[in-house]
Amino acid sequence: MAIGMPETMRAIRYYSFGGPDVLRLEEAPVPNAGIGEAIIRVHAVGVNPGDWQIRSGLAGDRFELPYTPGWDVSGIVVSIGDGVTSFRPGDAVYGMTTNSGGCAEYVAVPAGNLALKPRSINFVEAAALPQSGFTAWHALFVQGKLESGQTVLINGAAGGVGHLAVQLARWKGASIIGAASARNEPFLCELGVDRFVDYAAALPTAIARSADLVLDTAGGNQGDWLLDTLKPGGQLVPIAWGSYSSEQATNASVTVHEVQYPLITSAYLEELARLIDTKWLNVTIDSIFPLEETANAHIKSESHRARGKIVIRVFSELQ
Ligand SMILES: NC(=O)c1ccc[n+]([C@@H]2O[C@H](COP(=O)([O-])OP(=O)(O)OC[C@H]3O[C@@H](n4cnc5c(N)ncnc54)[C@H](OP(=O)(O)O)[C@@H]3O)[C@@H](O)[C@H]2O)c1
Repeated sequence: MAIGMPETMRAIRYYSFGGPDVLRLEEAPVPNAGIGEAIIRVHAVGVNPGDWQIRSGLAGDRFELPYTPGWDVSGIVVSIGDGVTSFRPGDAVYGMTTNSGGCAEYVAVPAGNLALKPRSINFVEAAALPQSGFTAWHALFVQGKLESGQTVLINGAAGGVGHLAVQLARWKGASIIGAASARNEPFLCELGVDRFVDYAAALPTAIARSADLVLDTAGGNQGDWLLDTLKPGGQLVPIAWGSYSSEQATNASVTVHEVQYPLITSAYLEELARLIDTKWLNVTIDSIFPLEETANAHIKSESHRARGKIVIRVFSELQ
């Protein structure tokens, strides 16, 4: 335990899988830094759909109870474990835990999952970035191999992953078709999409067979229309479970990728921070909740209507 640190802290925990009402605010032990880990005094924690998917039991029951949600964190390093050389106490950092636990005043994070917080944004915005930014990067550039001059259609373009994917694709020099509900058209045009599609309306003929890559953030069983937007040889990269007609994909000569869950590293976080500080990337905050209202943050995320990111503020004395 580092000098000046308390032995207990406020943390959100649950003892059974279920609705938002299983979330409790409790006193819990402050974690110690293991080998290669840093203890972060958490200023903010980003909300991801995975938080409520795990809580509700949708992700199975392999998660040890009691369980504290929250993967994306920003805050100040207060102690480091053996072997950590890249950070020291006092550093403002952001990153992603390996085993959740972010909805608490302190959390242990491997140093290899952290980077210095982007200088030009506050802790709330920094906590919104890691999982969504990295997922967008991986889907577009690692799986989708998007290149300058290509056309990408991003479905769910106004959501946590989607709105960052739009900006990363713009940075790459791609032409962007953003698909969302009609209410998000002004937001996405402001963000830089070249063309907007209302996913609830008929597919405009100009969009048919026009994309090299589709990034589908929505998944589910309503994604077959996306196959019609791809050129022959095009790729569909889903980030959530979805069902797509294999017959339609074969007839259209397009490839549907498997969902991947890649692991974040400091190098990706440093690159995202660089894009933030050079103004290529901007995080839109949908809403901010205090730690004691984590249930309301989950309810908001479960609505599937977030525009940008939902964030929980833990210590409020710093933005
Ligand atoms: N594979 C991975 O590593 C990974 C990582 C992160 C997330 N994910 C998964 O990816 C999915 C998206 O995550 P997220 O953080 O972007 O979610 P999110 O922020 O909650 O997404 C909200 C957005 O979804 C849009 N949406 C809702 N229904 C839609 C539909 N039928 N068609 C198109 N868009 C629709 C909404 O737009 P409108 O309001 O305009 O409808 C809203 O802007 C989640 O299932 C999450 O679990 C996977």
